[in-house]
Amino acid sequence: MFFKPMQHKAAGLPHNPLKAIVSPRPIGWIASRGSDASINLAPYSFFNALSEDPAMVMFSVQLDSPDHQKDSLRNVEETGEFVVNIVGEAQFDAMNISSGSFAYGDNEFIHAGLDMVDSDTISVPRVGGVPAALECVHYETLPLPRNAEGGGYTMVIGTVTGIYIDDAVIKDGLVDYHAFVPISRLGYRDYGRTGDIFMASRPGQE
Ligand SMILES: Cc1cc2nc3c(=O)[nH]c(=O)nc-3n(C[C@H](O)[C@H](O)[C@H](O)COP(=O)(O)O)c2cc1C
Repeated sequence: MFFKPMQHKAAGLPHNPLKAIVSPRPIGWIASRGSDASINLAPYSFFNALSEDPAMVMFSVQLDSPDHQKDSLRNVEETGEFVVNIVGEAQFDAMNISSGSFAYGDNEFIHAGLDMVDSDTISVPRVGGVPAALECVHYETLPLPRNAEGGGYTMVIGTVTGIYIDDAVIKDGLVDYHAFVPISRLGYRDYGRTGDIFMASRPGQE
């Protein structure tokens, strides 16, 4: 089978398989603050780390409509800070609730029954109880090309200014995946739990 992007139906596939084949994707659960001091929380699976030193991350925001952007993008552009909260198995339901359509300024922490915990380097809070969180300052916004309908995505790049890890998920100096079970986004309505972990060395590594 071969087809061009968005031509999956002509190829006999009822649903776009792109996110299923680029899977698993980590979920960046993005907390942000508007210039009116309102707090926002929403998950983004077009998310990843870009580099280690300096530590940089990105997430990509779909336009709500050709002329309306999502709250997370608006806030990061307004105040220049965000927190990437890491989603473990225990955070799944709250993460899903926070993806609902709430009016601008309506705090998803409250809707999802979550605590706001002060960050160390920025004014945006992290989610209480998460296994880890990355405090970030806005580095750059990169608008991606629009599609034929005027839709599209905007990529937000941030520089990590602080790293929180729950001491309970550290074992022998390493992050213990089994202590929180990272959740990933697959395609369709599918999610993954990271559980089957193996080690390997690169050629030449001891
Ligand atoms: C697991 C998951 C991953 C998501 N990933 C994205 C994404 O990468 N980009 C995007 O624009 N929306 C994504 N969404 C949808 C947003 O979370 C949703 O539109 C949310 O209401 C946006 O909130 P905001 O306007 O407060 O930023 C995702 C939803 C879920 C449940």
